[in-house]
Amino acid sequence: MENFQFHNPTKIIFGKKTHRNIGQILKEEGVKKVLFVYGQSSIKTTGLYDEIVDSMNAYGVEFVEHSGVKPNPVLSHTLEGVRKAKEHKVDGILSVGGGSVLDEGKAIAVGALDDGDLWDFFTGKREIKRALPNYTVLTLAATGSEMNGYAVITNEQTAEKLSIGSIYTFPRVSILNPELTLSVPASYQPYSAVDVIAHVIEWYFTCTVCPGISNRLVESIVKTVIETTEKIIKNPSDYDSRAQFMWSATLALNGITRPGYRGGIYVNHMIAHSLGALYDLPHGACLSIVIPAWMWWYKEKNRPQFERFSREVFGTSDYQEGIKTLKRWFRSIGAPVSLRDAGIPSSDIDRIANHVHSTTAKVWGLDREYTVEKIKEILYLSLRSNIVE
Ligand code: NZQ
Ligand code: ZN
Repeated sequence: MENFQFHNPTKIIFGKKTHRNIGQILKEEGVKKVLFVYGQSSIKTTGLYDEIVDSMNAYGVEFVEHSGVKPNPVLSHTLEGVRKAKEHKVDGILSVGGGSVLDEGKAIAVGALDDGDLWDFFTGKREIKRALPNYTVLTLAATGSEMNGYAVITNEQTAEKLSIGSIYTFPRVSILNPELTLSVPASYQPYSAVDVIAHVIEWYFTCTVCPGISNRLVESIVKTVIETTEKIIKNPSDYDSRAQFMWSATLALNGITRPGYRGGIYVNHMIAHSLGALYDLPHGACLSIVIPAWMWWYKEKNRPQFERFSREVFGTSDYQEGIKTLKRWFRSIGAPVSLRDAGIPSSDIDRIANHVHSTTAKVWGLDREYTVEKIKEILYLSLRSNIVE
């Protein structure tokens, strides 16, 4: 087991009706005026908007609205939020929504205290040194943004989808009420499930030292995601499954599974972010296209972990069968498993591979290990759904 430091400063408040305390929480935190960030329509349709506003009014917390965050949030809208945060001199950010809303809220929190080019933080040109405190009420379980410091934004001008990560952007408090996720359409559940699984298996398969404690945490999360996803798709109003799924999603990317691993990279995310930037597909769909192909391509490089995964998660001693079973499961829940499923032609592979290599691979320092040729090999394996069978 490797040496490690673990620090997660986010307070989680989990359970039914907990969102109604948001006004009180902000007041106790000493926040007087927030930028209230939300998405396109869901919080108004469900009535959540009114409950949040009532709670803030009850505790005298002022707010300025920043609505219309789109899935795969974009830089121009983020900069609009930064402008409002500065103009109205808010002292905190309240994000109410899914990962996209939370991510845009975090990026605004950074931009609000900065006078330079916000995109510099995404390209790694500058390091984040401060941010406004951010608070979240999560309405869609998937990304783990509620308990980590990451934010992923697409720059529409350069067609880059890049991330920031900093201790200053962890939410101070996140409210996780599984009831708020009951309205998420069952058709989105596959994307959420794939994302959560990706967050834990990426390091699991790429580690060079792989402690049992971390492996078992990962396997437990994957098994819980599979079990609860099947139940949620059958019965979207199953509270207990929504609740267990929500907590699994938070644990998957709050750092808890990573201590002790050596190695560990998010290579599937690296490729998926280019599919997101170029085609604006849901993040989980980008991942389900890439993951089975990458696993097949990589399997001999860390065969013990693939054997372990197949045995512990799917009860098979055949390490290739484990990959095929995961792919079949993705397909069975309705996630795309090939570029073709998403309508992306083979003639796009060169462009995608070059995009991956010159954007995320470069910024994450993976461009030597993952050359354009290697990325193309993986993409060819993800071309047709019957290649990895
Ligand atoms: O905009 P509204 O109207 O709110 O609708 C949203 C959106 O259309 C809807 N929705 C959210 N909560 C709902 C709901 N609909 C009904 N009832 C509810 N309770 O769902 C749609 C998708 O929302 P979005 O926030 O885009 O989904 P998700 O949480 O999957 O976030 C995806 C984004 O997060 C990034 C992804 O790249 C992508 O941009 N990621 C962020 C990470 C992080 N910060 O740690 C890590 C991930 O790997 C990921 O990259
Ligand atoms: Zn993800």
